[in-house]
This record gives sequence, structure tokens and C-alpha cells, in this order.
Amino acid sequence: MSLTRRGFLASAGAGTLLGAVPGRASQGPVTLVAQPGEVQLAPGEFPKTKVWTYDQSVPGPLLRYSRGDELQLQLTNNLPQATTVHWHGLRLPNLMDGVPNMTQSEILTGEQFDYRFALKDAGTFWYHPHVNSQEQISRGLSGVLIVDEPDAPDVDDEIVVVLDDWRLDENAQMHESFGNRHDMSHAGRLGNFVTVNGLPELISRQPRGARLRLRFVNVATARIFELQLIDMTGWIMALDGMPLPEPQSVEILRLAPAQRADLFVDLTSDEPVIGSVERDGTYATVSFDVSGGEVTARPHPPTSLPPNEMPEVDLEDARRTPVVMEGGAMRGLPEEVVWKGQVMDARRAAQSGQFWAFNGVSGRPDEPLLKAFQGETVRIPITNRTAFPHAMHLHGMHFREVLDNGALGPWRDTLLVQRDESREIAFVADNPGNWMFHCHMAAHQMSGMMSWIQVV
Ligand code: C2O
Ligand code: CU
Repeated sequence: MSLTRRGFLASAGAGTLLGAVPGRASQGPVTLVAQPGEVQLAPGEFPKTKVWTYDQSVPGPLLRYSRGDELQLQLTNNLPQATTVHWHGLRLPNLMDGVPNMTQSEILTGEQFDYRFALKDAGTFWYHPHVNSQEQISRGLSGVLIVDEPDAPDVDDEIVVVLDDWRLDENAQMHESFGNRHDMSHAGRLGNFVTVNGLPELISRQPRGARLRLRFVNVATARIFELQLIDMTGWIMALDGMPLPEPQSVEILRLAPAQRADLFVDLTSDEPVIGSVERDGTYATVSFDVSGGEVTARPHPPTSLPPNEMPEVDLEDARRTPVVMEGGAMRGLPEEVVWKGQVMDARRAAQSGQFWAFNGVSGRPDEPLLKAFQGETVRIPITNRTAFPHAMHLHGMHFREVLDNGALGPWRDTLLVQRDESREIAFVADNPGNWMFHCHMAAHQMSGMMSWIQVV
């Protein structure tokens, strides 16, 4: 196994974690200011990078609550453009979902908005803007929201791992190539610089044998991370915030944009590392500096996390609406697509910045993809006829994949659909309102892959 460092070397002192996300206990009303800032992303010999931040931090401050708490947060927008905050993966009231011109108006520069809702699920979630998402998320606007289980699970330590990638120039400044046609019609804005909690690599000193909870969050707008557990034992405990009924042992973890995974790992060797498998090699992402005493061994596999309260998916009596994804480089859009209520040919659509379509409709339509009655089960078979993978995300409700044998997969809010793949999701439409259903590769979202469903 040959590992590459990202050109960042530092020695962590005892008990310290280099690159911890700055956290804060979030009791009562809190504030968050979206504003420009500067952070040291690249190694020290490079200048600081001009970014957009929440409270001058990248990633944004870790918001932490207990299940059943109420989030009360006032967002102030000091960015040069309008914004909103979307609470990704949270099952919340529609008016708190942060989608401009659907659940709220845009928060203009200099204005505030109050978010307030109950946190009914424990798990790993995140927040990000839903206006001009490609630029705003790529410039650094995202943060993690953790809701703790009523009883803390049996681990020695916990580490939040925010994975991001950046497109930087030779002075470590943001490439201003937002929304360029190549990114939109291909794999999105892939970066040339990967960070872990805003640093090239994260190093954690831990005692031998420690069991850790790692909360991975992929906040990149295009990159699919391929994580490899080297010299350690690990289990997936939860996906997209929702616990698995049985921990699943894991060596390679694929994390699409917006997806999260909670892992438990046992550090049983001297140099356990989590590598990120990339085109030109495997890079150290989280390295453990193991020393000192033995920690008592724990059950294998670990006891599963307590479940959140989820509805019963009833495949038999479900409403069924297939979605066919088309467009992008290599394959292109069908002859005719509908955009903003108008029929147009693929060439004109491309001239208007539209490269993708769901069922022949490009961009957010006036009419929902489907209407469901509250409580109904909905099945959406998704066929990817494009030459690219897409990370399909549903707001407001988690879904389960309908597997080939008819069984139901784990609860998720974002599903990676590879090129030429057909996958089916099913969910209970138990949350009334208008909910976005879109690709989380932000360049695709803004150039056609954006629809919505209505629950009445
Ligand atoms: Cu995290 Cu509509 O997205
Ligand atoms: Cu996509």
C-alpha cells in the first residue's frame, strides 16, 4: 500500500486533533452570519484563500443538539448575493426547508431569516445554501449539524470528517469558473485540491485499541469520494443520518456529494489510515497516531445505533412515477425538451444553459413531478440514460431503495445512480409541502436536473 501525503506534515500533540471542526453547544437561540472571509486551506507556503463562510469558519460551525431539541437560528446574510439555508436530510416543516421561491423568499444581502424547528431524528446532517448552490457551496458555505442520540453510544472518541474539494489557482485562490458550460455538461465542478475539515489532512492521536465514531460528510459539489480503511476494522453504523438495523463491516466506502456515513472503527494496528482513492494515487485523509495503553475490547460487531422513528413503506399500494434522466456530454438531450413551460430543441436548451432533463423537462417546472396524498407510499424507478453518475436527493423525507429481490435497502436521502443504471426508490409521503428532488452535483442541478414533488 503506497500512500501519498497531500504535502502537509505536522505533529499532533498528545490528545490533540489537528483539524477538528470548531464546535459549539447550540442551546437556545443562536446566530449564524454568512460572510466573505479568508482561510488557510492550502499548505502554509501558500497565501490564505478568499472564501465565503458561516461565522468566518470553513467548514461552518458544528451545530450540535440532542434529539427532541428545537433549533432556533437566525441567519444574517452579509454575502454579496442572496442566500438561504437548507437543512440537508432533516425531516422538518416545509417552510423551514430553505428553498428560494418555494418555501421562503431569498434572504437578500443585509437581511435576516429565522429558522426554527424541532429535531426529531438523531444523526449526522448538514446545512448549505440553496441559492446559486454551485457557487455558494463551492466558495465554502457548508457546515455539519449533529443531533445526538438520547444515550451516547459506547465509543472512546468521535471525529467529524468533512470532505471537500476546491478548484484553486496557483495562488490558492478560487477559480472563478462557476457555471461554465463544460462543468455543467460533464461531471460538474471537480476540484484540484481536497480538504478534510478545511485542511489537507487530519491527524488524530489515539490510544491503541480505541473505538472511534467517525462522521463522514461529503460537502463537495461534484466529487465522489472513495474511502479506504487501511489497517483498521470498521463498520457502517448509519447512512445519511439514519442508523442501519445491523452494522455492516466495511473496507471501502463510496460517498457521493451530500451523502453521510457514520462509521465505528477499532484502531488495532500502529498506523491505521483512511485513504482517499484518487486517480493518481491513494491519499492519506485521516491518519491515526496510535500510542499508549490498551483500551478494553468491545463486541464485534458493535451494537447498532437506536433507530429513529420511521414510517412503514408499503410497496403494494404505492403510487408509481418513473424518472428518466437524459442529457449531458456524449449522449445529449432528446430532440425536444420543455424548459420554463416552452418546448425547445436541445440546441436552444443548451444555449440557455440547460443540459439535462428529467422525463424531458429541464429545470424546475411549474408543475411537480408528482403529487401524492399524505401517507401514500411513492415509488420512483430512476433510469440514468446519461454518461455520468448523479447523486439524487429528496428533501423532507428519507427513502429506501427497492432492491432487485424486492427487499428494501437502508433509509437514505441521497442515492448515487451510476451511468446506465436503473435504481428504484420508495418513500412514504408523510411530510406535507413542496419538496425538491434534484441531483446534488450542483452543476447538474443548475443546468436542468431539478424537480419537485408535492405532498398534500
Ligand atoms: Cu443538500 Cu436540495 O440539497
Ligand atoms: Cu447529476
